[in-house]
Amino acid sequence: MFDSPIEAYCRQFSSQPSSLLSELERTTYIRSVYPKMLSGALQGRLLSFVSKLVAPKKILEIGTFTGYSALCLAEGLQDDGELITVDSNPEIESIARLFFEKSTYCSQIKFILSDAADYLAGNDTIFDLIFLDADKRAYLDYFNQLIPHTHVGTLIIADNVLWGGKVLDLEKNHDRDTLAVHAFNSAVSEDVRFEKVLLPVRDGLTFIRRIR
Ligand SMILES: C[S@@+](CC[C@H](N)C(=O)[O-])C[C@H]1O[C@@H](n2cnc3c(N)ncnc32)[C@H](O)[C@@H]1O
Repeated sequence: MFDSPIEAYCRQFSSQPSSLLSELERTTYIRSVYPKMLSGALQGRLLSFVSKLVAPKKILEIGTFTGYSALCLAEGLQDDGELITVDSNPEIESIARLFFEKSTYCSQIKFILSDAADYLAGNDTIFDLIFLDADKRAYLDYFNQLIPHTHVGTLIIADNVLWGGKVLDLEKNHDRDTLAVHAFNSAVSEDVRFEKVLLPVRDGLTFIRRIR
């Protein structure tokens, strides 16, 4: 909602989100404590665009919040596809469920109230597209846990990999979140099973595609 002039310009000349997504963005700003966690219009259009290119049958989202990015990713699902979105915070559940129910994807989206690590340990589903957007300190653990849930060709998108720019100066920013995001970036960049590109979109998005 409150983006930089460059982001506002990019948003103006991109496809626009649905009225349901705009309503969800407004509701999130009114009813949640940290509304800036929401992906927002521009990143949402990118997630939708990429999901349509991948045309996934199975999508996993780690970190639902109020459901904005889940609804964007669902736009690319195959007709018989399914999106599973996991969040451990019961306070966001009612907003997310309300907006999933209002959407045309309500029968395809499954919201799971759980700790992400527990969810990943408790099933063996293989996903075509994964959006990683939960606890930053656990990013590297999530990544390692996610690998058995991928196939060659699976695309993982990780959010907040620039962490407000703090990863650029680790001597000044040696808090646990910054170090964890940096450790994740380092491990992903060295992992030969994946090709990757880190883009300076919003707070940084890395596209990580399994190639072997
Ligand atoms: C940045 S928000 C997700 C934003 C959402 N993907 C979007 O773009 O609109 C991060 C979410 O991760 C959830 N989260 C944090 N730690 C978690 C954990 N251990 N397991 C599951 N969800 C977690 C939080 O409750 C929060 O809703």
